[in-house]
Amino acid sequence: MNVLVFDTEEQLGIAAGYYMCGQVLQKPDSVLGLATGSSPIRAYKHMIELYRQGAVDFSRVTTFNLDEYCNLDVNDESSYHYFMKKNLFEHINIPDDNINFLNGNAEDLEQECREYEQRIRAAGGIDIQLLGIGSNGHIAFNEPAEAFQRWSHVVALKESTIKDNSRFFDSIDDVPTHAVTMGIGSIMQAKRILIIALTEHKAKAIKQLIDGNVTPQCPASILQFHKDVTLMLDRGAASLIS
Ligand code: F6R
Repeated sequence: MNVLVFDTEEQLGIAAGYYMCGQVLQKPDSVLGLATGSSPIRAYKHMIELYRQGAVDFSRVTTFNLDEYCNLDVNDESSYHYFMKKNLFEHINIPDDNINFLNGNAEDLEQECREYEQRIRAAGGIDIQLLGIGSNGHIAFNEPAEAFQRWSHVVALKESTIKDNSRFFDSIDDVPTHAVTMGIGSIMQAKRILIIALTEHKAKAIKQLIDGNVTPQCPASILQFHKDVTLMLDRGAASLIS
């Protein structure tokens, strides 16, 4: 694993923005796997900046987001659709038709998940997957469990995740209890992976990701078996690694 530690979130965001845009410069029709949450916000900000400067063109890019809540309107300000629109999509030139999300309001969620996997395959697979990590080691909404869930699926959110994510809602009672998410297999098939982790809150999960046992109790630990993983950490997130 390529582990990069930055003094400030701003520096990390610039590096991550360049890293993602570098992929697009190398392959203009790249397929990007994208994440929501606080970790990637500055990376998106710098991708937007590079686009505004004319350094990168997203017109041939396709995106697949990792996950979305169930039973939440896509226009709700707490939805991942809304987050991506506000923090990236409305500022750059990815054609709407090239933007893919799991539909957490689909009538048949299992079928929706199967079709999402087919869409990823039809697009040629994900070239680079951007990830955050939960304090419990989750990636996307793959929560600690008895076994790794391979493909996209419906998930009941753990209490700790509901608590972590309640900061994006008016009250903890408004946080949906279920979500649809890419699976561990979907993520592991990405050609490259970039993980961003900020603050000491993530330090334990990062330590386990890097040198703990590979176990579904820390879903991110499986990334030890991926051949092209880059971690961008601030000092807090890196505080338990040597
Ligand atoms: C978001 C996602 C989640 C987050 C994780 C970290 O699409 O899949 O796994 O990456 O919960 O969230 P933040 O970045 O808010 O700490």
